[in-house]
Amino acid sequence: MNRQVCLVSRPKGMPSVDNFKVTTREIPKVGKGEVLIKTLFLSVDPYMQGRIGGRASSHPPFALDQPANGDGVGRVVESSHPDFNPGDYVSGFLDWADYSLLPGSALLRFDPKEVSPAQELSVLGAAPLTGYFGLLDIGQPKEGETVVISGAAGAVGMTVGQIAKIKGCRVVGIAGSDLKADYLREVLGFDEAINYKSLHWMAMLEQACSKGVDIYFDNVGGAITDEVMKKINRHARVVLCGQISSYNLEQPDVGPRHFRQLIVKSALAKGFLVRLDYQSRFPEGRQQMHEWLHQGKIKPCETIIFGLENIPKAFLGLFTGENLGKQLVQVE
Ligand SMILES: NC(=O)c1ccc[n+]([C@@H]2O[C@H](COP(=O)([O-])OP(=O)(O)OC[C@H]3O[C@@H](n4cnc5c(N)ncnc54)[C@H](OP(=O)(O)O)[C@@H]3O)[C@@H](O)[C@H]2O)c1
Repeated sequence: MNRQVCLVSRPKGMPSVDNFKVTTREIPKVGKGEVLIKTLFLSVDPYMQGRIGGRASSHPPFALDQPANGDGVGRVVESSHPDFNPGDYVSGFLDWADYSLLPGSALLRFDPKEVSPAQELSVLGAAPLTGYFGLLDIGQPKEGETVVISGAAGAVGMTVGQIAKIKGCRVVGIAGSDLKADYLREVLGFDEAINYKSLHWMAMLEQACSKGVDIYFDNVGGAITDEVMKKINRHARVVLCGQISSYNLEQPDVGPRHFRQLIVKSALAKGFLVRLDYQSRFPEGRQQMHEWLHQGKIKPCETIIFGLENIPKAFLGLFTGENLGKQLVQVE
């Protein structure tokens, strides 16, 4: 039988585990060109909040009473597609379920001796590639520049910081605990890391950005962004990646308006959706990230929760900062 985690009701504002239910159905039969996959790991990502709430972005909303889905990795159990054989390791858009049935054309095979199943998501998946393209394509980092990253201890933020270090930048990360800040500095080599929940974080940011901010990679928005925006330099680039601080608000948040600051600093602010804007370049990003991983320049970091039934809990933890690096759910 196939356990599936389904969305059963749409919340207003912050979801809860009660919006989901585990149901059991038959394992689907393999049709022509299709592949049956047994799930190993599933990724939970902040953008799923919109899909739960019924809003489309690069993906449609989750359908009620159907298994939710997202990035995942698994092993082929049965295949009627010529490119896949039982036992192959694959990544793709899998159901939140023990088994998924997908067309072979929607799957990517990977070698677990080259990259572990968890790293396939934490280093080569959509979240790290968001950091890769957002920083390199929009941020255009140059040696010696100061890069500030909000949400720095998450899957995207960690990637941005490590690539910025590879490019010779001074890197300042902002994250939600001392433990996360220590990890960014001591393990990943960030120059400065600030806990935005500490009393004097604004003074620490001021000190860390004594030469201003050349690139701001924004994952969170809200009060943190208001503070960083005051410090941007002339010709700064603001990479608008995410606004997680506002995803669960029922009313729009009103704060300082930043357009004047962009004008007087001749700065650029650009948003993007990685799957709509960069999907065709994923192979290039994966190849470079793979190389850096093997050179030890990118360190993988995952927080793993066990059990398919815990996927809603893992997702909700993204909004309370439970994760360090990529949040994954291990299904088998
Ligand atoms: N544009 C795109 O195509 C694209 C693609 C992927 C992701 N994104 C966005 O990029 C951002 C990061 O994604 P991710 O996958 O790397 O997630 P993540 O960082 O792994 O997880 C979310 C983190 O956000 C922080 N957070 C939660 N609520 C917050 C709040 N109110 N204020 C400040 N920080 C808060 C928490 O860390 P702390 O402990 O530090 O608070 C949490 O660990 C998200 O906004 C996401 O929507 C955009």
